[in-house]
This record gives sequence, C-alpha cells and structure tokens, in this order.
Amino acid sequence: MNFLWQNKQKLNLFKKGILVTSSKFLRVYRWNPYLNKQPWFSIYPISLPMCGPMILDALIQIKEKQDSTLTFRRSCREGICGSCSMNIDGTNSLACLKPLNTKEKFITVYPLPHMYIVKDLVPDLTNFYSQYKSIKPWLVSLNSSKKEHLQSKADRLELDGLYECILCACCSASCPSYWWNHDKYLGPAVLLQAYRWIVDTRDDSTNSRLKFLDHKMRLYRCHTIMNCSKTCPKSLNPGKAIASIKYKISQN
Ligand code: SF4
Ligand code: F3S
Ligand code: FES
Repeated sequence: MNFLWQNKQKLNLFKKGILVTSSKFLRVYRWNPYLNKQPWFSIYPISLPMCGPMILDALIQIKEKQDSTLTFRRSCREGICGSCSMNIDGTNSLACLKPLNTKEKFITVYPLPHMYIVKDLVPDLTNFYSQYKSIKPWLVSLNSSKKEHLQSKADRLELDGLYECILCACCSASCPSYWWNHDKYLGPAVLLQAYRWIVDTRDDSTNSRLKFLDHKMRLYRCHTIMNCSKTCPKSLNPGKAIASIKYKISQN
C-alpha cells in the first residue's frame, strides 16, 4: 500500500472541502523495520462525533477502520498501566489521557523521543527496564522471620507522590541528560522509583541504596533541567525526588 500517495490524496480532498465530515487529522510517525525505507508520516482523518474523546480512541479507531498496520502500545485506557506513552504535539504524554478535541486541526504523534524504535509508536524499553531492575525495586528485609512490615500513618505518607508512578517513561524521554547518556544515567523515572524505596521505613537497605546511587553518571548527570516534572502525566515531581536523593547522600 502506498501510504504517501494515500496521504496526498487525503490532503487534496481536505483542501477541496470534500472531507468535511473529518473534523480532525492525526499525523502519525511510521517506521517498519521490515520495509527497506525511511520513516514516514501517515495522515488519518478523524470524525470527532464518531470517535471517543482521547487520542488513544482515535488511534484505536484508525487501527480498526483505516489502517491495521499502525502499531502502538496500550492496555488500561485510563492512565494506570503506562503503556500508551508517546509524544503528542511536542509533549510526552499518555494517549489515553490526552484529549482529541483541541483547537488544532492537525495533531502530530511521534513515539517517545530519543528511544530506539521497535515499530511505529512503540519504543524499545529494554534499557529502561534493566535500569529499573538495577535499583532493586522491592522491599529488602533483613529479618526473615517478620511476617508483617508495619508502618505508621506518618511514614506511609512519605510515599505519597512516589508510589503513583506508573513507569510510563514520559519523564525520562523528556530529559536532555537522559537523551545523551541513557546507557549510564538512570534518568528521572528510575531515580524517582529509587527514592520511593529509600524513604520506605520498612526497607532495611537504605544505606546500600544511597551508596549505589552516589555515582557521577547514575545520579549526578541530573542538572536540574526539570523537563521531567513538567511533562509527568501523573503530576509527579521526579526532579524533586532526585534533589532529595542528593540531599540524603550529603547527610549520610
Ligand atoms: Fe511516568 Fe511520571 Fe513515573 Fe515519570 S514519574 S515514569 S512521567 S508517571
Ligand atoms: Fe533531567 Fe529532570 Fe534532572 S529533566 S536533568 S532529570 S531535573
Ligand atoms: Fe494504560 Fe494509557 S492505556 S496508561
């Protein structure tokens, strides 16, 4: 199928006023490793009355009704699983939380920036997940006979603003330090998760966690640029969590 030709036809129809029922166009980044060609854009008309309210609804409708070759990740459809992260009109966000009905006629959708791409809107998160594993994202208890790990209400409150992270990677993919050093710098998402375990009073490995992070590349490549906190679709503040890790290390 010649998508470029199709897109030109759609644009011509739009210019002539024939596609009047389509009140919105999605311009979507495409790349297929099995086709010997450069990445390209596909432009899809969306009729707002016939579509759900979010960008993800439009992508699902495109895949069902217009182009089954379009590839993207999604699962929960309500901002919980973190799978549908992508770059929408220049901002990393969750497609299921981003409204379709904005004043823009064309909405441009890219995969998360500075990531290797598996296909179309699907980034390769292998490095991201292995970095997550490196911070030991589980409770370390030195007392194996303990059946329950109790916590006061005040201690539990320390986890607010941290436990809600859904590991969507929007923040890490918005951080210039992570763009250029993603193989060594852990990035805001993983560091926020690391801080979540550092402040958990039930955990017995705070010192070794801080020691692991006290490293010029793993932690100190953060230069407080704060794109991460600006972009987080769950309104979390990874920049602040990173500053708190640095402070804890200085006090340790
Ligand atoms: Fe996503 Fe926010 Fe967690 Fe970053 S901090 S991974 S943007 S939920
Ligand atoms: Fe990057 Fe956020 Fe630090 S954008 S440099 S991780 S404050
Ligand atoms: Fe789960 Fe969007 S589909 S966060």
